[in-house]
Amino acid sequence: MESRSEGVEERDKVVILDFGGQYSHLIVRRCRELGVYAELLPYDFPVEELKKGVEREKGKGKIMGIIFSGSPFSVLDENSPKCSSAVLNLGVPVLGICYGAQLIAHLNGGRVRRGERGEFGSADFFFKKEERLFKGIADSESGGSGGSGEGEGDGKVGKTKVWMSHEDVIEDLGSGGEVIGWTENTPVAAFRIRSNIYGVQFHPEVHHTEKGKEILRNFLFEICFCERNWRIDEDFVRKKVEEIRREVGDGRVVCALSGGVDSFTTAVLVHKAIGERLTCIFIDHGLLREGEREEVLKSLENSGMRFVFVDASQRFLSALRGVKDAEEKRKVIGRLFLEVFEEEARKIGAEFLAQGTIYPDRIESARAGASKGRASRIKSHHNVGALPERLNLKLVEPLRDLYKDEVRALAKTLRIPEGILKRHPFPGPGLAARIIGEVTAEKLRICRSASRIVEEELRKSGWYERVWQAFAVVGDDLATGVFGDARKVGRIVIIRIVSSEEAMTADFVRLPYEILERMSRRITNEVEGVTWVAYAVSSKPPSTIEPC
Ligand code: XMP
Repeated sequence: MESRSEGVEERDKVVILDFGGQYSHLIVRRCRELGVYAELLPYDFPVEELKKGVEREKGKGKIMGIIFSGSPFSVLDENSPKCSSAVLNLGVPVLGICYGAQLIAHLNGGRVRRGERGEFGSADFFFKKEERLFKGIADSESGGSGGSGEGEGDGKVGKTKVWMSHEDVIEDLGSGGEVIGWTENTPVAAFRIRSNIYGVQFHPEVHHTEKGKEILRNFLFEICFCERNWRIDEDFVRKKVEEIRREVGDGRVVCALSGGVDSFTTAVLVHKAIGERLTCIFIDHGLLREGEREEVLKSLENSGMRFVFVDASQRFLSALRGVKDAEEKRKVIGRLFLEVFEEEARKIGAEFLAQGTIYPDRIESARAGASKGRASRIKSHHNVGALPERLNLKLVEPLRDLYKDEVRALAKTLRIPEGILKRHPFPGPGLAARIIGEVTAEKLRICRSASRIVEEELRKSGWYERVWQAFAVVGDDLATGVFGDARKVGRIVIIRIVSSEEAMTADFVRLPYEILERMSRRITNEVEGVTWVAYAVSSKPPSTIEPC
């Protein structure tokens, strides 16, 4: 865990220990949505450090509770990620979720065994109503008590739907353990050990668990006694601005601005803090979407921020000539971006670099770093990573603790133009990530026009804000079409529209056929050189969002 920059105010928090589960970030987000600041820490974060956090005074960065995440591993595997059992004795409430629950049982001297069938998907969950974790949870619609187990039918047992995804089962909880919930296939689906260690075999953080939010709320407020004080409002802005002032002193700052919501919000915050001492640098690498350069320039002009605009499109496009490999394209763009930015930044002579790094970026690079051996070929995301060292710049990252939704809430508070606030995320290498093979003028034209049509149709039908990203992809494959009486070959455009939680997993959007049909018809009619349109029905994993 990197150290926090000086002057950053410490908030009371709940810590999520990350055992590598796909929903780890979701747990953090759910806590924050409930108004409690939460952080994801690696599972082997030193216990002594956790202890220091637990022992802090309330209101001074105290750890109020710890949640163990899920994991793709089994506690029965020798090399599965495990924390020290001392975490259970810090005196602070703990909640284990799925693998986290099994790990608690294991650390408490209990027994976990490999299940024969596992349990995946929705299940009826029966729980003891008197437990604090289930306070106020009414029976589900289909409700009433039922299933197997004591207390059935006597009004002391509730029933609700939960989302299960596990193979191993807990057989014994060790000392002081009590079963407080079960399903037909899982006799220990929820437990309490002594007064404040809890485990649930299901996933309260996913929407399919009907009362998941209530269960997490009970853990945070009835068991950890957290305060509901995490919100993005004027007060948050005021504190952030003060923080930036303290960090920067009377120094000068440059900010690489792409026109996306992260970098724009960063710039506006820094500008609020230090005004003219901030210079934004906006580089057009020739891989922007249709109309994007003009829109960003207009927003910059209206913002009153000092900025430099560099049209480096020819430089980038000629460097990309003949480059077909996806990774190689990213490298060329990254290298050139660094060069161009460096030339401009040197003229300005700043001491600080403001970056729109957000929480998942930071945690995911730390996660990737920790598992370097396994993650053999992650796409090298293009950013200005090497810049601080090259130019001897100190980093200012005011959004480093925020999720995308929180950045959008902040952008709204700062009254950032809607066009920027609601814009879908766009990759640093721009359209090069959406053009398979060599970037040519023809493919750029097709990608731009087809993407514009995709966006227009989504906006018209009210879907734009309901999806995470939507765009067109073009490659080198050709397919035959028939226009009037003549056959001709042309390009295939692939439409990619996904919903996502912070881009770590993604699902293709089940868009109504009529909308897809309109997009397809318009693309083949309006974009010269396209004969076929396809829809990408791959999710992440195993596919990524961008094709290259
Ligand atoms: P993938 O394609 O890896 O993308 O599923 C995950 C998210 O990251 C965006 N993306 C990038 N963002 N530089 C960026 O700043 C990049 O090189 C880059 N590549 C992908 C992508 O659009 C998606 O939101």
